[in-house]
Amino acid sequence: MPLSSLCSRFSFLAISLFLSLTPTLQIPLLAPISKDPSSQLYTISLFLKTPLQHTTLHLDLGSSLTWLLCDSTYTSSSSHQIPCNTSLCDSFPSNACSNDTCALFPENPLTRTTLLDTARIDSLALPSYDASSQSPLVLISDFIFSCGVAHLVQGLATNVAGLAALGRSNYSLPAQISTALSSPHSFSLCLPASSNTGAAIFASTTISYFFSSKIDLTYTPLILNPVADTVVTHNSQPSDEYFINVTSIKINGKALPINGSILTVDQTGFGGTKISTAEPYTVLESSIYKLFVQFFVNESSAFNLTVTEAVEPFGVCYPAGDLTETRVGPAVPTVDLVMHSEEVFWRMFGGNSMVRIEKEGVDVWCLGFVDGGNRRRTAVVIGGHQLEDSVVEFDVDSNRFGFTSSLLLQGANCANVSLTNLTNPIN
Ligand SMILES: *[C@@H]1O[C@H](CO)[C@@H](O)[C@H](O)[C@H]1NC(C)=O
Ligand SMILES: *[C@@H]1O[C@H](CO)[C@@H](O)[C@H](O)[C@H]1NC(C)=O
Ligand SMILES: *[C@@H]1O[C@H](CO)[C@@H](O)[C@H](O)[C@H]1NC(C)=O
Ligand SMILES: *[C@@H]1O[C@H](CO)[C@@H](O)[C@H](O)[C@H]1NC(C)=O
Ligand SMILES: *[C@@H]1O[C@H](CO)[C@@H](O)[C@H](O)[C@H]1NC(C)=O
Ligand SMILES: *[C@@H]1O[C@H](CO)[C@@H](O)[C@H](O)[C@H]1NC(C)=O
Ligand SMILES: *[C@@H]1O[C@H](CO)[C@@H](O)[C@H](O)[C@H]1NC(C)=O
Ligand SMILES: *[C@@H]1O[C@H](CO)[C@@H](O)[C@H](O)[C@H]1NC(C)=O
Ligand SMILES: *[C@@H]1O[C@H](CO)[C@@H](O)[C@H](O)[C@H]1NC(C)=O
Repeated sequence: MPLSSLCSRFSFLAISLFLSLTPTLQIPLLAPISKDPSSQLYTISLFLKTPLQHTTLHLDLGSSLTWLLCDSTYTSSSSHQIPCNTSLCDSFPSNACSNDTCALFPENPLTRTTLLDTARIDSLALPSYDASSQSPLVLISDFIFSCGVAHLVQGLATNVAGLAALGRSNYSLPAQISTALSSPHSFSLCLPASSNTGAAIFASTTISYFFSSKIDLTYTPLILNPVADTVVTHNSQPSDEYFINVTSIKINGKALPINGSILTVDQTGFGGTKISTAEPYTVLESSIYKLFVQFFVNESSAFNLTVTEAVEPFGVCYPAGDLTETRVGPAVPTVDLVMHSEEVFWRMFGGNSMVRIEKEGVDVWCLGFVDGGNRRRTAVVIGGHQLEDSVVEFDVDSNRFGFTSSLLLQGANCANVSLTNLTNPIN
């Protein structure tokens, strides 16, 4: 495309100037996403510090604040702290000081731990997508984050140097990128299955760059949960997580008779449906899970499937040899999440609904949804496996969520949206 070839003639610094002075341009910035095999969760790679260092962080969609380990190995000539009593420090919801330095509360969403640590500013750079072989980096020199300490990474993806927060807050990674580049506050994710590489796409609502055929997204409004579910909350702020209006769940076209009230977020923040990268598999409140399993097993009889011994954490498994493989995964009943209108639904095929487990003489496909118990805060938590090899877009400006069904339907997957082809911009 002409825009990209024009840009490729500019130097790395000129590119960042060019972008920041020209708000209407939408050159997507990319950050590769990988799946961590031990936790089944996801990591994102960026460039930080001066000189720029390739850094891998745990990806958390719902978190408000990015944090990094600031131990003795943290070396950067551009890093600085934020004094107290500055307008920047006062703008943080936490509004805390420690040792005369502005302080924040970095959180681990899995272990639900936090601490008070220093706020910092340093350089962040991401490659911009470019159809030519070069990939210039776009520099954001004043990226704000919190420091964290080693025990805070417990339970996250392995070997990460901190956590990248993608939540709705003003200081999340996508929010800061959008502010710095005057670009839309919207980003997309393509979470990879297995060892493929996926990507996060920032500063752009355009995913068409990455595919040879047209990829259409379906949209539904983003819902605001009025009550944050973080360890530290400030002045009854709303949640920075992404909730959507799932009004019913259908299996093979048949709607589960779910009590509708549980699918609605109430004033205390309970109920409803959110999207989360903190859960490897979708978690359903018990009453929904029981109906889900009952309907799925019944509809599976039409596929000549008979359940076998289940493998934890799943409740329903089938002998792998009994399932027919298709290009969208094993042939099983479809799962539809119906949104604000009957015509708007998110269809999941076997590749997203089923999980293959091969170990110690066991070879089964299991229904990849888990029972969350009956006092779940959120009724439906759509987890990583159900998002893989699909494009999901979080358009905070327009307050809407876009999704595709499986890219496998179009002969594509998340590796089509990746940087594996691009040369390492900092050698
Ligand atoms: C405050 O400063 C002192 C002296 O520089 C240092 O030993 C201590 O660790 C600091 N505390 C925090 C919370 O940063
Ligand atoms: C910040 O302001 C508070 C109260 O206004 C004051 O007590 C404190 O000394 C100030 N700190 C700095 C570093 O100026
Ligand atoms: C976030 O930024 C917007 C726009 O700058 C502002 O209106 C809003 O008050 C900010 N929210 C918080 C919680 O600071
Ligand atoms: C995705 O990538 C594969 C392999 O590079 C290619 O064959 C296919 O056409 C691509 N699909 C789309 C929709 O871009
Ligand atoms: C649905 O759930 C609400 C809250 O738990 C309860 O008050 C109501 O009776 C339930 N409705 C039905 C039809 O079960
Ligand atoms: C079970 O499936 C059969 C068709 O396979 C259907 O006729 C029946 O209504 C289903 N029962 C329930 C409870 O969904
Ligand atoms: C299910 O099994 C029956 C009897 O073996 C067979 O006639 C039918 O074609 C099978 N259906 C499917 C969908 O495989
Ligand atoms: C969710 O969708 C239903 C059906 O269109 C609608 O009645 C309801 O108001 C929506 N809920 C929210 C929170 O937008
Ligand atoms: C890598 O680049 C080649 C040549 O430009 C292209 O044909 C191929 O589809 C690209 N592969 C990916 C995964 O982007």
